[in-house]
Amino acid sequence: MWKTVILILSVTSAVWSGVPLLREKLPLSPRQEVPVSGYRLPNNTSPLRYDIELTTHVHDHGSPNQFDFEGKVKISLRVLEEVQNITLHYRQLTVTHVKLTDAANTVLVNDDSSFTMDTTYEFLVILAPSVLRVGDYSLEIDYHGVLRTDNGGFYRSSYTDANGNTRWIATTQFESTDARHAFPCYDEPGTRAPIGLKLTHGNTYHAISNMPIKSQNPWNATYTVTQFEDTLSMQTYLLAFVVSDFAFVSDTPNKQSVYANPVSISNGDLNFALEAGVKVIAALEDYLQVGYSFPKLDQIGIPDFAAGAMENWGLVTYREEALIYNSTKSPMGQLKRTALIIAHEYGHQFFGNLVSPKWWSYLWLNEGFATLMQYIAANKAYPDLRIQEMATVEALQNAFQSDALESTRPMNSYVETPTAISALFDDIAYDKSGSVLRQFQHAFGDRVFRAGLKYYLDAMQFKAATPDDLAAALQKAVDEPNDFPVNLNVSDIFYSWADQKGYPVLHVSRGADNVITLRQERYLLKPSKDAVKATWLLPYNFATYQAPDFSSTLPYDWLVGETAELRPLPSLHWDNDDWVIFNKQQTGFYRVNYDDKLWELITNELHHGEHSSIHHLNRAQLIDDSLNLARSGHLGYDVALKLIQYLTKEEEYVPWASLNNGLSYLNRMLAGSAKYNLFKQFVWELVEPSFHKFGLTSKPSDSHFSKLTRNILINWACQVGSEECLTQTNSQLAEVVANKTEDIDPNLKSVVYCNGLRNADRDTFLFVWDRMHRSQDPSDRVLLISALGCSQDPELLELYLETSLDETGDASYRGQERSRVFSAVYVNGKVGLETAMKFLAENADTIDRLYNGGSFGGRAIGSAVTGMARRVVNKEQYDEFLALNTKLEAAGYLNANELATAKELAGENVQWTNTNFGVIERWLEANVKSGAMRVGTVSRMAITSVAVLIAALL
Ligand SMILES: *[C@@H]1O[C@H](CO)[C@@H](O)[C@H](O)[C@H]1NC(C)=O
Ligand SMILES: *[C@@H]1O[C@H](CO)[C@@H](O)[C@H](O)[C@H]1NC(C)=O
Ligand SMILES: *[C@@H]1O[C@H](CO)[C@@H](O)[C@H](O)[C@H]1NC(C)=O
Ligand SMILES: *[C@@H]1O[C@H](CO)[C@@H](O)[C@H](O)[C@H]1NC(C)=O
Ligand SMILES: *[C@@H]1O[C@H](CO)[C@@H](O)[C@H](O)[C@H]1NC(C)=O
Repeated sequence: MWKTVILILSVTSAVWSGVPLLREKLPLSPRQEVPVSGYRLPNNTSPLRYDIELTTHVHDHGSPNQFDFEGKVKISLRVLEEVQNITLHYRQLTVTHVKLTDAANTVLVNDDSSFTMDTTYEFLVILAPSVLRVGDYSLEIDYHGVLRTDNGGFYRSSYTDANGNTRWIATTQFESTDARHAFPCYDEPGTRAPIGLKLTHGNTYHAISNMPIKSQNPWNATYTVTQFEDTLSMQTYLLAFVVSDFAFVSDTPNKQSVYANPVSISNGDLNFALEAGVKVIAALEDYLQVGYSFPKLDQIGIPDFAAGAMENWGLVTYREEALIYNSTKSPMGQLKRTALIIAHEYGHQFFGNLVSPKWWSYLWLNEGFATLMQYIAANKAYPDLRIQEMATVEALQNAFQSDALESTRPMNSYVETPTAISALFDDIAYDKSGSVLRQFQHAFGDRVFRAGLKYYLDAMQFKAATPDDLAAALQKAVDEPNDFPVNLNVSDIFYSWADQKGYPVLHVSRGADNVITLRQERYLLKPSKDAVKATWLLPYNFATYQAPDFSSTLPYDWLVGETAELRPLPSLHWDNDDWVIFNKQQTGFYRVNYDDKLWELITNELHHGEHSSIHHLNRAQLIDDSLNLARSGHLGYDVALKLIQYLTKEEEYVPWASLNNGLSYLNRMLAGSAKYNLFKQFVWELVEPSFHKFGLTSKPSDSHFSKLTRNILINWACQVGSEECLTQTNSQLAEVVANKTEDIDPNLKSVVYCNGLRNADRDTFLFVWDRMHRSQDPSDRVLLISALGCSQDPELLELYLETSLDETGDASYRGQERSRVFSAVYVNGKVGLETAMKFLAENADTIDRLYNGGSFGGRAIGSAVTGMARRVVNKEQYDEFLALNTKLEAAGYLNANELATAKELAGENVQWTNTNFGVIERWLEANVKSGAMRVGTVSRMAITSVAVLIAALL
């Protein structure tokens, strides 16, 4: 599954950064510390195959049973030890009849009462009249249910067709525990069986599923029965089916198709997804040397979708906006995002589908590998985009944020309840695990790593695995003769990274005798004396002034205990005045801190030497590490701020992306400082040279990275008030509003809209709202919803928030869009945060009800509060925020864990301010030439003639 794609929340950006940031953090809680047990099925029976028959009436617009479904499942099962009853999972179903027969066809049960249903554990227990002996049985269950509205299980979604009519479709989302809503089953990831499926549906609609269609026959005058080929033995959570009147495009020789609403298909908006799908599966098969196992592979874009995408075997489902790319209308970043998400889901066809985790504790065997594969496969498919380099700033540096908290969890974490299972889909399962696997890829060497993966996939195919199986396969590859022997036990390595929470910082210092001392300790955002000592089996390597080769990422050695010493050798030489950089290309999952002298030598090289002699991924590392080490008190802010001043020379994207994250944090925190103008001046001095170099318009010769870099630069230039930037973005938006130009260059659209809206008047705001309101293009809507939050006018923001609670349907938000409106507002500085807090205090009941509509089991308020906590910066906000949280907890919208996390995050910010304001202010006073910038105050645009369609709402 691809994590929930709400918005920018995960990176600390104070504004819509224009960089397509993909994922929202799930709230850090709720995570049960004490495992709640009793939710697992007994192991005394197991399924041999399922035959499912389902009837839907979703095509029948306006009929009273349009959203009802009827089902029958026949389960062939084996009784493994004598039992009286058979336990299965179900959810929100009405069971009407059960029939149990033994292998000799003797009917043991055939009635509407020989079963019990437990709503807490979601067990359907079939009660046999006498003890069942070991052997095979057949169980038939008749039931009915309702298509859900929360994007989980067997659920409904809708779209507007070319004539403006609403059309409904029926679709599925089963991971983690919702297959049981479509049919009673053994709904655990370690249990597999082949599945036969028959769908009865209106004959104006068609049905697709994991497997190709076997037959299609009329049922009666208006219904058709579609039967699918049997699946291979598979996990229930990977089953999928969609009944719709969608159109499709196909690549027949490659057995791939993409389905979506007919308008998007005829626009060609899904052509890229089809092309990328074909390239990506080839890239994966080549990298893994394992073939894809189902006879076809379809993708489909669904309008209402809780997560970003789901890897159902042979039928990958996506939130529609994640799959669409139109080369004239879409920004380049969307092409990259679509390629990545496809590569992630296709990576799962091997990791997760072919080999499943034995239990959700090992979710990282799915999501960590899919995260690693998304960069590897998308990069192989589209080398020009340089996607692989982004694994550092997007995955590793992002994981460093969550995993630096005391409240983080180890990669292996056992839980049982459905809520706790969904909370496992977090930064640890995705970004940390993907980055730890990337570390192994480089530490064992790509060749050995790949050989190990092949052993793993071959040995465990169609089975359920644990990390021990993966360790054994890698050990086998490591033990083979190879040019880079590792005398380490892979299990020990796994233990240190997957069973311990957190990650290390490597301290590097050099004595007068030229000896380098290494020391590791756990990195914590708030270092604590009581922290338990931990060490990791840490692979390291380095480049030096005299040997500035950053290309080989194999380890020089492994740090096994807490410390080690490195002496210069004839072959490995450095002087006391030479810089050294550890962790080449930031492939190791740890931060690096240096002694003062080494930081000074590195900074000197960046400023006065050839900054490009240090690899650009290591420049990004130096930016991220120095700013974060300063934030956590390991390093002086003077060192970090001085280091990043080299960015006046930087033109590479990845360092700028790291800086963007670091500056967003500082910008948010310093906004309340008396010296904020000096900080803005400082930022302007950093971005000004590149801002002028990249300019305010795209060039045909731009690479993907140039386009992304330009957005960061424009965004900061405008944000710190560059007159040139604000004037130009305002006038571009004014032209759109005045209908002098159709629209803005898609690559610049988000920055222009956001910055143009900062000081815009009511009419401009309403114009943009109206545009969003009328748009049927989901990715355009994402962009506009986010841009509207950039307004700094509290009245407009409040109005905007109110539209998110519209229940008349006039505002036309999809379930998942309502909470986006809210986050678009609170991420935008003081005005936005304070307006959002007030709004939440006044409307908690309605917010809880409506925002959760788009995601099953959602905790919209918990997640919003965690996001807001990161943005609370001063004591007044903190007090107000705490009072609000206490009220929310009392009303049951926040649980104790969420409350504690929010308090910790916000409290941390306030404490940071107390500790660091003075230091940073003094540094800025001493180091920034004040007054050089022409700061713009933009006159408000006077716009006439705007169609105010939302007047009715206001
Ligand atoms: C079920 O699990 C228990 C506990 O792990 C084990 O002792 C028992 O042998 C298992 N039974 C079967 C039939 O696998
Ligand atoms: C299932 O059978 C076992 C053993 O006969 C019994 O202890 C248990 O109560 C039964 N469960 C239900 C829900 O009837
Ligand atoms: C056709 O079959 C469907 C599904 O069983 C049923 O709901 C519908 O009433 C039938 N229509 C007619 C005309 O019999
Ligand atoms: C992009 O979308 C427009 C209309 O929305 C369509 O006319 C055009 O053909 C599409 N372009 C491509 C390259 O798909
Ligand atoms: C905008 O301009 C286009 C062409 O110049 C025209 O067809 C359209 O009606 C105008 N729209 C509005 C709202 O004035």
